Amino acid sequence: EKENGDLLSKSFQDIISSLPKGNSWGFPDHLLQYHGFWHSSVFLQGILSAQQQFLAQPADIILCSAPKTGTTWLKSLTYATITRASYDDFTSPLLSKTPHDVVPFMELDHAHFSTHRHLGIPVLATHMPYSALPKSVTDSGCKIVYICRDPKDSFVSLYLFVSKYQKSENMQTFNLDEAFEQFCRGVCWYGPYWDHVLEFWKASLEHPDKILFLKYEEMSDDTILYVKRLAEFIGCPFSSEEEEKGVPEKIVKMCSFENLSNLEVNKNGKHRVRGMENANYFRKGKVGDWENWLTPEMAARLDQITMQKLNGSGLTL
Ligand code: A3P
Repeated sequence: EKENGDLLSKSFQDIISSLPKGNSWGFPDHLLQYHGFWHSSVFLQGILSAQQQFLAQPADIILCSAPKTGTTWLKSLTYATITRASYDDFTSPLLSKTPHDVVPFMELDHAHFSTHRHLGIPVLATHMPYSALPKSVTDSGCKIVYICRDPKDSFVSLYLFVSKYQKSENMQTFNLDEAFEQFCRGVCWYGPYWDHVLEFWKASLEHPDKILFLKYEEMSDDTILYVKRLAEFIGCPFSSEEEEKGVPEKIVKMCSFENLSNLEVNKNGKHRVRGMENANYFRKGKVGDWENWLTPEMAARLDQITMQKLNGSGLTL
């Protein structure tokens, strides 16, 4: 295994030295462009490692998203739905662990795993673009759930997440206008954002039985409806008895922003592997908060890019 790891890091060094470099929003290492998408070198190493070593199984559920689009929420809803026979809203591990600890990231937490999977339940998350997913994920026919969000809110969420992290590390925070410029050019973690969304959108049209495509705004509007849809899609629909007992409602309430963000673990805890403060994943949880951060000109520019990029796809954001 060690030899494998050494080989991987040697070929990784060869790969990264040849990649185009992009602005990294004030972090010391450049972002690297690999097959059309921008990555930090740590995430890229995790992606390559997962591509070579992750063996998906047909019963796996892979939660996919670009950063800051509702990943934490989707993780908690999926986990609570799948484990509802073992736990209820008083006993769920989600009350004492942050969603990122119950559903790990394929390319971060599992970055250096070998073929052992260490998965308690067969749910894993990733920010990888569709085209970068390990071949076994697309070949095994396992289920994929994708969540996306209005790019204006995703950008604001990402910028504030990065700034908070930079402050906590005593780094200088990156300028909002400059970050906006980079985001518009597609230069951000796992960006261009629109290309990420479009790849999954097109794949979901081709394989509707394998890929469920969700939008943060629609989920916020009627979370119960979408949790039922999610449960059905992943093969564990709520029975009529469960519906009568209000099980979907209880899951939605337990996973709500208000509930999760007020739990001790999410107020004061840190991620067990990466040391990131859990509170950073819970900011406001609102649709349309971009209005408090972007000028009308900035919003119009993002909307225009979105219209151009999605033109003809049948998707609106
Ligand atoms: P805001 O910064 O707009 O508040 P991700 O989980 O992909 O990193 O996305 C983070 C965004 O999802 C943040 O958005 C965060 O507040 C929001 N979020 C986290 N938990 C949520 C929940 N349970 N319900 C709704 N939104 C949630």
